[in-house]
Parts: sequence; C-alpha cells; structure tokens
Amino acid sequence: MNDREIRRKQMQDALDAQKTQKDRNVMGQFSTPYPLALDIMQYMRSLIGTDNVSFIEPSIGMGVFYSAFTEAFVGGGHALGFEIDPHYFKPASEFWQGMNLEMRCSDFLAQKPDELFDMLVANPPYVRHHHIDNETKVRLQKTVQRQTGITISGLAGLYCYFMMLSSAWLKEGGLSCWLVPSEFMDVNYGEAVKCYLMQNVQLLHIHRFKADDLQFADALVSSCIVIFRNSKPTADQEIKFSLGGSINNPETVKSIDMSQLKAKDKWTNLFTDEAPINEPQATLGDFFTIKRGIATGDNDFFILDKETIAKYEIPQQFLRPILPSPRYIKGDRINSDNGLPALKHQQFLFTCSLPESVLKERYPKVWKYVRQGYERGVQKGYICSRRSPWYSCEEREPAAIVVPYMGRAGTDNRLFRFILNDSKAITTNVYLLLYPKPQYARCMKDETVLTEVWHELNTIPTDTLSRNGRFYGGGLRKIEPNELMRTPAGAIASLLTLRTSYQQLSLFG
Ligand SMILES: C[S@@+](CC[C@H](N)C(=O)[O-])C[C@H]1O[C@@H](n2cnc3c(N)ncnc32)[C@H](O)[C@@H]1O
Repeated sequence: MNDREIRRKQMQDALDAQKTQKDRNVMGQFSTPYPLALDIMQYMRSLIGTDNVSFIEPSIGMGVFYSAFTEAFVGGGHALGFEIDPHYFKPASEFWQGMNLEMRCSDFLAQKPDELFDMLVANPPYVRHHHIDNETKVRLQKTVQRQTGITISGLAGLYCYFMMLSSAWLKEGGLSCWLVPSEFMDVNYGEAVKCYLMQNVQLLHIHRFKADDLQFADALVSSCIVIFRNSKPTADQEIKFSLGGSINNPETVKSIDMSQLKAKDKWTNLFTDEAPINEPQATLGDFFTIKRGIATGDNDFFILDKETIAKYEIPQQFLRPILPSPRYIKGDRINSDNGLPALKHQQFLFTCSLPESVLKERYPKVWKYVRQGYERGVQKGYICSRRSPWYSCEEREPAAIVVPYMGRAGTDNRLFRFILNDSKAITTNVYLLLYPKPQYARCMKDETVLTEVWHELNTIPTDTLSRNGRFYGGGLRKIEPNELMRTPAGAIASLLTLRTSYQQLSLFG
C-alpha cells in the first residue's frame, strides 16, 4: 500500500466514524477495502490491455477505486467521480487536488452525460428500496424504461438503477465493472438487471465470492463482481462465471453460453457443476427462533382491561402488557406508549406465582378475583389444571416482530403480515413471535436494520408463506412456528450478511 493510500484510508476511517451506522445504511456508505479495489483494477487493466484509459466512478466516496486506478493504470487518463454527500465529497476533492480527477458533488442518477469514458468501476450504494422515496423511485423506473426498454420492480435496490443507467456514460465498447450484492441473481427484483445484462450489453464475467469463505463468518450469500462491455450482445457470446478466491485467481471458472441464461432462473446455480444450490438456501429459521405466544388456558379470565385491574386493585407485578387480537390491529406497526402498545384498548395478562395462602393474606382483592375464576371452573381446564398454581402463566419475552398465525385471504389485512412491535407487549398464541438468533441479535437492535428486516419480511410473497402453511376451508390459512422457520429468506440473508459483513471489514482485506 503506498503512502498516499495510507493517508486516504486514515481519512476514510475518520469520516466514517463521524457518521452513525444508521446514516451510512440509509445512504449506502460502505467503502471497498483497498486490496479488493486494487484486485479489481488490476483485473480491469489486464482486460483493457492499455494504461491510457479514461475512467468514471459514479459513487466515488473517498476515492478508493481512484487510488487503485492510479496504481494499476500507470499514467492512466482523465477521471470523473460523482459523490452526493458533501461529507465525503469535500475532503475527497481536497485530497485528490492536483490529480487528473474531476469531482462533482451531485446525484449521479440525475445527471445527463456530457463526456464518454473508456471504463467505469463502482461499488454503488446498496440502498434498499424502502429508503428510496416514492417520487425518486417512479422517476428512476421511468428512466430505466426509457433508456433500456426494461420494466424494473419497485423492490429493486438503488444499485440496480446505477447498473442499468450508467452505460450512457460509456463509449461504445467501454467496460463497466460493478461490485454488488449477488442477490440480484436470485431474487425477483433482480430480473430486470439480468434482462439488461442479457439484452442491452455484452456480459463478460461474473465473479462470485464464496459464502463459506472463512472471513464471511455470518454470511450465507456473498457479493459479486459483474463486468460487461457497452456493446450489443452477440448470440455466440461466452460468459465467464468464476467462484471463490479472488477475481484474478478464482477457485473455479466456468464458461456459460448465452443460450443457458434465462432472466427468470437463479444464476447463482450456474457457477459450479454441482447440483443446484450448493449452498443451502437461507430460511427464516437461520435468523429467528420462532415461538407461539402463550396459551393462557382461558383468555376471558387471564386477559384484563384497565377497569378490571382498577376494580380488583391488581398490582403491576401480576400484569404483563399483551397485544389484543390481530383484528384490532390496523396497519403493520405498533407504536410504544411508555412500553405499552399505543392502542385504544390496552390489555394485560394476569399471572401470579404466589401460593393461594399468601395471595389471600397479602392481596385480598386479587384473591377475590381468583375466587371468581374458581367459581367459573377455570382451574379445571386442560392447561390450567397442569399448572401450579393454576393462575400462573408461562413467561415470554416481548418480540420486536410478530405475525398473526392465521389469516383469511380476501380480507383487508395481508395474509400473514409481519407486525413491528415497538412496545413491550407479549402475545397470546394467536401470534407467532420472532426472536433474532444470538448472532444477529446485536445487529437487529439497530433500529434501521430492524426496520429493513421488517420491510423485507413483508415482501415475502404470500404464496411463499402459504406454501409452508396449512389450508383450511373458506380461504383460511394457518402457519406454525416450524413452518414459518422453513420459509425461504434469501433477501433477509443478503441484508443481514451485508450488515454483519460490513461490520467486519476484514472481509476482502
Ligand atoms: C458503497 S459507497 C462506495 C464508495 C466508494 N466507491 C468505495 O468503494 O469506497 C457508495 C457511495 O455513493 C454515494 N452515493 C449515494 N447515492 C449517490 C448518488 N445518487 N449519486 C452519487 N453518489 C451517491 C454515497 O454517499 C457513498 O459515498
């Protein structure tokens, strides 16, 4: 690493440290490790075969790729970099002053080309779709349609728009190289990108990093590098699919014929000759332990409203906030009112482990309530009769994401909606509770990550969820914890992989 790169990296770290993780997530501000940037640049140099090339970076950050460009392309030509955020733009422009690099502080996706380049290399912002405001999304979708003739899904991340809209800046035959999440190869929203790579440009090479790479401790899917030429595709074109190791020294290489590629297929299956999916497909159970809410044994007795609590002077220690039935929950988010669900009708679970004699003596009013239960025969029910004392319910931790376990097609609410529960309320067994696995718990404590996961869960097609659940008459569907855990969760895997892998940037280093 040269001295200049050492100084650049120090600035990069200092600038990153001034931002919150949340801000960096929203703007997709995660820098490429220099060894990886250099590896990519050296590969591009070998493809192009000359040093004298002009270079464009649509999302330049502190300029790690430019740094690698000056190293790999000795005396390389003019370069142009876009950066939307002055936080990086200002120090980067000062840092690179005197070099043959022009920097512009603007939104790359809102620019019209005024110059054409030989080469583009980018690690575009991995901003997920719900952080793209609607107006921008619609504008970008229209631009993609106009420029490429392809309809792109509203669920596509910002990097897809970068990939599909950047060729306008390239000379005919210019080379484009993208470090992007490999999820586009498998998920529905990636279809537009795959169509683009097959129909609009000449796809040359996709290198996929291996998910079981030791440095990828939590990773179930990996990033990839996509390289294409700004030329019309040809029918007899061969495409290199390499896997593992580095782009200059992959573990395996396959040559794929254009006719083998279909936009609807999962391309990650094409990298090896092994049976499809050589990495097990991620499921919700990889990320969450899913439990049923508690079975009270008699909801009429155990679930109390504020009036009953006041009447029998039931103290806090015997009460747990509990969510009402899903039919009383409009929308997919429950706000917190000092830990209680911010809902019109707040309800509480009554649970007490004190023996009857103690209860009678210390809390005569509460005992009066329990006596009432006796009179109704609540203690004789199947569940209550197996508990001691019968009025002591199971304990449950509140969960940040809950799902009504039963739904009916054709009602106002989406079948199997994932509800974000900001309150400390637990639930009865009409809900399933999703608890992050220990290795993801810290990451999901971050509100931005949690919200992204929740959004992503709600994009799992109803069909996929119903496939694992059970069908009943009248359009009724039910899903049990183990069935929900078996649901494929590729997008969650990518999201959490990105978050957890970025937290350990030794990744490619
Ligand atoms: C993933 S980072 C990569 C930065 C740099 N290329 C690297 O590899 O270190 C993406 C960068 O794009 C910037 N960015 C986000 N949206 C942008 C836009 N619409 N136009 C230009 N830059 C953008 C972010 O501020 C961030 O610095």
